[in-house]
Amino acid sequence: PKIYFVTPTYPRREQAAELTRLGQTLMHVPDIHWIVADDNQSCNAMVAKLLKKFGIPFTHISSPMPEVYRKANIVPRGVANRRAAINWIRKNAQHGVIYFGDDDNTFDLKLFEEIRDTKKVSMFPVGLIGDYAVSSPILKEGKVIGFFDSWPSKRKFPVDMAGFAVNVEFLLHPNATMPYKAGYEEDQFLRSLGLALEDIEPKADSCTQILVWHTQTSKKVSPTIRIGSELDTSLKDLLEE
Ligand code: UGA
Ligand code: MN
Repeated sequence: PKIYFVTPTYPRREQAAELTRLGQTLMHVPDIHWIVADDNQSCNAMVAKLLKKFGIPFTHISSPMPEVYRKANIVPRGVANRRAAINWIRKNAQHGVIYFGDDDNTFDLKLFEEIRDTKKVSMFPVGLIGDYAVSSPILKEGKVIGFFDSWPSKRKFPVDMAGFAVNVEFLLHPNATMPYKAGYEEDQFLRSLGLALEDIEPKADSCTQILVWHTQTSKKVSPTIRIGSELDTSLKDLLEE
């Protein structure tokens, strides 16, 4: 089965570096289709140019976050664009496996072998996340009986976006959707598929291995917006010369 690897992405100074690292990981994966979903009014030309370099099959789509959510206290990141990718898959794919791979995460190539035969929904641990440093399903006699996650928050499926893969046929559930609700995107998406605990297929050697890490690149504020700072003043002097 083909893997549809869905990456929400948005413009900021780290973007080209993130997508280059990710693209060069995906170059090693057979039978993959990369859906790069731009949180932007239209497809970013820099991203479009970058994607061609890897020589892997891809689709570049755009769907910006609605303004009302951008103003929220905690914004639901990557929802509009993931929704657009889900719609694309529902229209264009009959079979395969969908995985949400954020542009800043780190992926072991073994992950792709593990998720490829997902029947409904597979799950596995995610490293470097939350206060416990790992989020994982808990197994008993090979079956998922609960979850280890530092932020349970009444979620039925307290997992990270990087911690599961879904069979495309299972995604065709008529109610399948991802909510604009920060922190609850994963849980409500999995619930919308009608997922039951018994349906979950544990991967990564019975969830004992970490094959994906929730790495985060430290952000630096652009100097031009630090109005009045020394650097800003010297830049202005330079420009005026
Ligand atoms: C965590 C989860 O790992 C995400 O999958 C989840 O979407 C997010 O929380 C959330 O609930 O909001 P985190 O590392 O905190 O992720 O968030 P980011 O990596 O900043 O964003 C997740 C993805 O959305 C990335 O691929 C990023 O490029 C994209 N994104 C972020 C957008 O498309 N638009 C934005 O405004 C921000
Ligand atoms: Mn992230």
